[in-house]
Amino acid sequence: MKKITAVIGSPNDKKSNTCTMVRDFIDTVKQYYSDIESEVISLGINKVEPCRGCWNCFKTGECVYKNDLLPEIRDKILNCDFLILGTPVYEQTVTGQTKILFDRLMMWIHLIGLMGKPTITAVTSAGDGIKSCQEYLDLIVQFMGCILVGQLEGIGLQPGYFPERQKYVEKYKYLAKKTASILSEKKEAKPSKMNEHAFEHMKQHLLCQTKKSGENNFTEYSFYEHEYWEEKGWLTMTYQEALQAEKSLHP
Ligand SMILES: Cc1cc2nc3c(=O)[nH]c(=O)nc-3n(C[C@H](O)[C@H](O)[C@H](O)COP(=O)(O)O)c2cc1C
Repeated sequence: MKKITAVIGSPNDKKSNTCTMVRDFIDTVKQYYSDIESEVISLGINKVEPCRGCWNCFKTGECVYKNDLLPEIRDKILNCDFLILGTPVYEQTVTGQTKILFDRLMMWIHLIGLMGKPTITAVTSAGDGIKSCQEYLDLIVQFMGCILVGQLEGIGLQPGYFPERQKYVEKYKYLAKKTASILSEKKEAKPSKMNEHAFEHMKQHLLCQTKKSGENNFTEYSFYEHEYWEEKGWLTMTYQEALQAEKSLHP
């Protein structure tokens, strides 16, 4: 059985328009392929502490906070077969809750921690700011390694007032079908130029540090990152080679 995990950065939980749009979408996916379990995690009730900027994750790969829900949410994202990341637009961009999640997962940008994960982003607003919010969201998930399969967007007004709900169910049927095909392994999610760029960017950043500081003489902040890339063998691979290597690890 395959798993869809959705993480929604709205402070509203049951009344969230973004949650409603995403839940409707998952129900439609299940109409095309039923061997799916799903979970929608609302950051409105599953609180995550803001990053304190200590850089410990760079030194050890671990966050110093141990007592909030981040580790649980992180593992659920890591272990799902398909990710949906949603947020309402707040002041033209993602909510604070969504940004806090990204900050706490900063290491995934440096480790391409979600390499190859098929992902859909979902945004609702009262009519403005969808593009800027979506661009940011799409950029971050692709820098984390996610393969962007599509985007959901909808207009919602006050919490719990999502007047065109049915219109979005119809509009995104094609995307639900595509998602079902990926989950049933009839189709593969295709990486973008941005995935390739993110990989090359991080690889060059590490190789550049090697040149500057000499082999095995990394600053304490990049040692963990370098070891991780070495262990994966990615420093001498192209993005496509790294992606294939990762797929063979998690068939
Ligand atoms: C603090 C705050 C800021 C908002 N900023 C915007 C905005 O910049 N543009 C916009 O169109 N809607 C804005 N909205 C409206 C929400 O994006 C919209 O109602 C959304 O559907 C709420 O999603 P939710 O029910 O999932 O929380 C804002 C709402 C709040 C509470």
